[in-house]
Amino acid sequence: MAIGLSCTRTVQPVARVHGRLRVPGDKSISHRYAILGALATGRTLIRDFAPGADCATTLACLKALGVGVAVRSDPSLEESREGPLITVEIDGRGLRGLEPPSGILDAHNSGTTMRLLAGVLAAHPFESTLVGDGSLSRRPMGRVIEPLTRMGARILADNQHAPLQIIGGDLHGIAHLPAVASAQVKSAVLLAGLQAQGQTSVREPARTRDHTEHALEAFGAQITRDDASTVAIRGDQSLWATSLEVPGDLSSAAFWVAAAAALPGSALEVVGVGLNPTRAALLDVLRRIGAHVEVSDEQTIAGERRGTLRVAHGELRPTTIAPAEVPGLIDELPLLGAIATHGGAITVTGAAELRAKESDRITSLVAGLRSLGADAEESPDGFQVRGGHRLRGGHVESQGDHRLAMALAIAGLGATAPTLIHGAEAANVSYPTFFEVLESIVA
Ligand code: S3P
Repeated sequence: MAIGLSCTRTVQPVARVHGRLRVPGDKSISHRYAILGALATGRTLIRDFAPGADCATTLACLKALGVGVAVRSDPSLEESREGPLITVEIDGRGLRGLEPPSGILDAHNSGTTMRLLAGVLAAHPFESTLVGDGSLSRRPMGRVIEPLTRMGARILADNQHAPLQIIGGDLHGIAHLPAVASAQVKSAVLLAGLQAQGQTSVREPARTRDHTEHALEAFGAQITRDDASTVAIRGDQSLWATSLEVPGDLSSAAFWVAAAAALPGSALEVVGVGLNPTRAALLDVLRRIGAHVEVSDEQTIAGERRGTLRVAHGELRPTTIAPAEVPGLIDELPLLGAIATHGGAITVTGAAELRAKESDRITSLVAGLRSLGADAEESPDGFQVRGGHRLRGGHVESQGDHRLAMALAIAGLGATAPTLIHGAEAANVSYPTFFEVLESIVA
């Protein structure tokens, strides 16, 4: 995240939320469409590109690598969409066609930018350096350095952390068995594999989001999926430019459906939202804890399911999140902790990966919720939150983490007094209009 003045947002206690809205384009999918567009032949058009700082960072890095990028924002649609419609045009340079950058490439706060571009740059015969902000520089990069090095790239990094100095070149395919379930790692290896000699495969310990696989197919590449957790790609296939429409980001819609699930008398509808099954485990958990969840108008475009989501409050029940559920819920776990402050209870296990996110999301979530009056505690690989009494509100820090800032706001809706979120600008990373939309759905 860019260094700037810290902003404080005040969240007032509310009785209920209601409304019908659209959320901005999916962040994970936008990164992938932009990167594949850059490696394709021809001009790619991406409608409803994610408006947050992370995806703008990917576009800036691609520009620095010689890719033609044009961004158009249509504010006339702002009111009906809770934000402008962003369309991006990418003039692709073809596989291994990027130009050496004239300076460092700054991924700021974005792990997806750094890890996916590492996979792309590993196959380019020049030297480049990827840097990140304080948060990104603390996150583990050995998980991409190791397989990309085995494929033939040279990557220099201090203790497996950014900055990454990448000396790319001719790669060869590998069979990769990552130790952690990570869509970013899988994607980095597949992007390198696309530009390598022979076949590259990734067998994951648990299934992660499969947007890269769908995006590769949308750009004309062939991949094979042997079983639920293995994907393989043959090198030196061409990608062809295409026109794409990014579905709404379910991880952004998650905040609104969580508020509707938690606050008695609430009902909310989100249209055009992504419902990819590898991302939608939140909906199962919401049903399990007592919320009413309905999906309609489903359609699949470029492999990505999307539709309308309706969620209404139900009496909240306690639940436990099992380790096998974690990859499909990884970005929503802090929010589930926030929901439990409204009622019910949650125990999360097998989620040590949360400690390697934009902040240590186990420690920062538990500390944040406790400072608002929650009954919460951490464990080495998860956390526990028990509802049953109302939060008192007060002051809380985002820790520079977008999902934490927004999850704490959802917790604050149920407090007896206002919640002041310091560092609330962190939300700009994925959802710049979050606090305005929050005001608009309060009943
Ligand atoms: C992402 C994958 C997830 C997720 C992140 C975005 C992606 O991380 O937490 O916000 O776009 O591939 P992992 O690499 O840990 O799966």
